[in-house]
Amino acid sequence: GKGQYRHFMLKEIYEQPAVIGDTLRTFVNPQSRAIALPELPVDFATLPRLTISACGTAFYAGLVAKYWLESVARLPVEIDVASEFRYREAPLPEGGAALFISQSGETIDTLAALRYAKEQGQTILSIVNQPESVIARESDAVLPTLAGPEIGVASTKAFTTQLTVLACLTLAAARARGALDEKRAAALSAALTEVPAHAAEVLNHDEAIEAMAHGIAEARDVLYLGRGPMFPIALEGALKLKEISYIHAEGYAAGEMKHGPIALIDEGVPVIVCAPSGPLFDKSAANVQEVMARGGSVLLLTDAGGRRRIGKGPKWTIELPAVDPFVAPLLYAIPVQLLAYHTAVLKGTDVDQPRNLAKSVTVE
Ligand code: F6R
Repeated sequence: GKGQYRHFMLKEIYEQPAVIGDTLRTFVNPQSRAIALPELPVDFATLPRLTISACGTAFYAGLVAKYWLESVARLPVEIDVASEFRYREAPLPEGGAALFISQSGETIDTLAALRYAKEQGQTILSIVNQPESVIARESDAVLPTLAGPEIGVASTKAFTTQLTVLACLTLAAARARGALDEKRAAALSAALTEVPAHAAEVLNHDEAIEAMAHGIAEARDVLYLGRGPMFPIALEGALKLKEISYIHAEGYAAGEMKHGPIALIDEGVPVIVCAPSGPLFDKSAANVQEVMARGGSVLLLTDAGGRRRIGKGPKWTIELPAVDPFVAPLLYAIPVQLLAYHTAVLKGTDVDQPRNLAKSVTVE
């Protein structure tokens, strides 16, 4: 049941510190904090390319992983939504591997993409939450998310546990490819083991986010911006908002603003900017200034360092824990979930069963 919570979605958001921890414990040695994946039928040292495909929120998890695998593990990744990939007739490299991500393990487009990749001779890996599912059965190896049953139609804890598995996979691939020195590898796995505690801290902002949701609920359109691995978090934030509050929202790579979407900015368009401290911060800060100069109200998700550097200006700021930029996507996913949730509650929608949507999409 929902226990003390008003909706399954809220309960599932609050379960994240625990289920991220459960998922991590299956892949990280608690003493040495070293990543220990099960034996996989893929040699990451020589893998020419990894193809990733999934739908919706699971696709956005894959998009974060593309940033991680390319920059941290130096592994080329190609990624596409399964509904496009399955019909694209993409040539796949000899000796390649393909990874499919699915909470339900039953999504028809993802399954069809998997079967296409198998026909093309790829080794099939999957990340699923339902170990008995058809996608799990048809894979050469399965990396499970231990999110437990997800009842709310809007995916929350499945997403962050997918990211957890993908972060571990990245560190394992980086080790196999000799892409990280030992010190950096140890720092990244240490940062990962601290994510459950930091996720619990993020949840302490729930009331503040609920207050900000009053400003979002009035809007007709909302923009979400991010750079690097925060770009998929912007996409995910926009998806969450539209699917449960029915407010039009778009996620953009912040650097694309000048190429069109900045024309939308006025007093009525809230802009959610996901910008942790790190190498891309100053670029995102410039986008914040551009939005504010045009009268847009900014909701900034950042950390103490970012808040100090931006100064006064954003209408709302949520200060998240300062972490290694590698793990930031796991933490910044949570406030965008809460913002969508509280906005939907204010709008009076059916949060756990939004109109026109099904939990598992088994027909095209
Ligand atoms: C969004 C959402 C959907 C699913 C998508 C894939 O909140 O839940 O976008 O992520 O339908 O579903 P699975 O992961 O079951 O393949």
